[in-house]
Amino acid sequence: MSETVAVPPRVREGSPSAVASMNDWRAEWLRACSDPDAFWLGVTRDRIAWQTPPTEGRRGDFTSVRERPLTWFADGVLNVTESCIDRHAAATPAKIALLWQGDEPDDVRRVTYRELLEVTERFAGGLRALGVGKGDRVIIYMGMVPEAAVAMLACARLGAIHSVVFGGFSAEALRDRVRDCAARVVITQDEGLRGGRRVPLKATVDTALMDGEGVENVVVYRRTGDAPAASARDMDWDAVCALGEPLRRAVPCAAEDPLFILYTSGSTGRPKGVVHTCGGYITYTAWTHALVFDLRDDDVFGCVADVGWITGHSYIVYGPLANGATSVMFESTPMHPDPGRYWEMIDRHGITILYTAPTAIRALAARGDHHVTRHSRASLRVLGTVGEPINADAWRWYHGVVGAGRCTVVDTWWQTETGGICISAIAPATPPKPGSATLPLPGIVPVLLGTDDRVIRGPGEGRLFLAQPWPGQARTVWGDHARFVATYFDEAPDLYFTGDGCRRDGDGYHWITGRVDDVLNVAGHRMGTAEFESALVASGEVAEAAVVGFPHEIRGQGVHAFVVLPADTLDVDRSALDAACRSALDAACRSALDAACRSAIGAHARLDRVTAIPALPKTRSGKVMRRILRSIARGAPDDLGDVSTLSDPSVVEAIKAAAR
Ligand code: WT7
Repeated sequence: MSETVAVPPRVREGSPSAVASMNDWRAEWLRACSDPDAFWLGVTRDRIAWQTPPTEGRRGDFTSVRERPLTWFADGVLNVTESCIDRHAAATPAKIALLWQGDEPDDVRRVTYRELLEVTERFAGGLRALGVGKGDRVIIYMGMVPEAAVAMLACARLGAIHSVVFGGFSAEALRDRVRDCAARVVITQDEGLRGGRRVPLKATVDTALMDGEGVENVVVYRRTGDAPAASARDMDWDAVCALGEPLRRAVPCAAEDPLFILYTSGSTGRPKGVVHTCGGYITYTAWTHALVFDLRDDDVFGCVADVGWITGHSYIVYGPLANGATSVMFESTPMHPDPGRYWEMIDRHGITILYTAPTAIRALAARGDHHVTRHSRASLRVLGTVGEPINADAWRWYHGVVGAGRCTVVDTWWQTETGGICISAIAPATPPKPGSATLPLPGIVPVLLGTDDRVIRGPGEGRLFLAQPWPGQARTVWGDHARFVATYFDEAPDLYFTGDGCRRDGDGYHWITGRVDDVLNVAGHRMGTAEFESALVASGEVAEAAVVGFPHEIRGQGVHAFVVLPADTLDVDRSALDAACRSALDAACRSALDAACRSAIGAHARLDRVTAIPALPKTRSGKVMRRILRSIARGAPDDLGDVSTLSDPSVVEAIKAAAR
């Protein structure tokens, strides 16, 4: 695939970018690597409104991070909302900050920078009157309404730490997050609206907070007008805005004060609260947003992610607003009311940059080109993709059909933990190759390690690490720095471990091959296999479970659960096991397993396949050999490799038979 001819980018004309050619990229990359402090201090002074500008760059490195979080710009003082709102409300008050496209195409709201400042000040003032102050945690469990962004910004203005929980998560998952960060306030809405369907957000909050969980107030924004009966701790959004004085002066924060916590899945059953801090995060998101997408003053930037994920934090709210851009918030789905929805929206609002996920691109490509070509799409200039590897066919469809060959495609690789884009084409500069995330941004130093832990130089494939710190990276895991160290810094000394596999071709281009740990990526949603497994076992329906991913045409990965039924549901006669397994997993059991995952994780945690097997393939030390299950799940049962270390190699045949 390194043979793939790189196509020159199309958007160079008129680009205001500092990186408008490959020579620029090379020069900037070298500058950022040779003197990172000078480079990043320059970036932040150019882009961010500091109350006290920092004089200090980075303190600490990937060795000292084991003892204490590293810091950036530690002597600077700022409030990120001054960068995101105040200065634009002064300079371009009538510019649209948030362009909200509701679930139905005619439902549109335009929030100018002046209005955004006004509502943020009022809501922040209300929260302060409720007792929310610097360092307090606030959970936001909402749909895609402008008020979700206002809630985030109001917390930031107070120096409070928000944690947005994606509206698809279950009550149980929400309660775990409320507990983990000891949230004082939960902000929600009566119902969400998505694809014509109502999402019972407030009802889910009520279930999650059945035992109070120490939450003092629940603030409810009205979207549909149908909320369950209010309790004493509930407050209406408008009533909160009317409390106290608007917070005109943003609370000064240290650069390293936490800005938010975002929970993400790892290889254990318990999600971890990834912590991002003010100064480094806002610097990195603003800079990458302008750089990668070649941002211009009159752009209409359409990132169609949800604010519940890092993409929404960095490229709907913080990055675009820090740059004074017009950012689209989309409440609906690409299929509602029909598969032409994105393109209808692009024409309606003149969207110039679209940022979406491969899963949506593949789903739309499967519905036929006519849904695209009946809309003009003439405003589009840059097309971004994120969240999972994009296969070359989907890339070509995005470039050729959606972009009619005139737009540049940027495949952006990054993670919740990296805060912003790390490996990506830069729209005006990098000749893309279909399916490759291409090259590291300035300041990012990817390293591949082979199975022997040796550094791979030149072309090759291995585990992807990043060798040099950058301002946007997560600082710690909330309340558990040891877990932060164990997850990201135990795999190799002095390197940040991404959890991904990657191939580098002869041109130095990067091709992400997917997770190499026990993390699944289904339709761009990150979930841990361990989260599924603990839900399945907790259901009482199965004795043991092992969950693996398999390649899925639309969603990237599908979820395959291998379960061992409790002994008493199986015939003890070993020869009858196969048949017993197959019939034992009756419809009732299957739906109980589905329900268990839905209630432990959320509606997005669907089991594509469940196979009952007589026993899990375990080594003599009791570790499940997932490799075997992965091969069987991807339909390659004859490609299992060495199975001699299994405590009972004969289970392999039984598993193969059950999966047939
Ligand atoms: C994982 C991070 C980054 C925002 C959305 C997901 C995968 C992300 C790409 C890409 C191949 C990608 C990786 C990564 N991923 N972008 N362009 N090409 N894979 O954030 O939930 O933290 O997931 O998504 O596997 O580790 P996340």
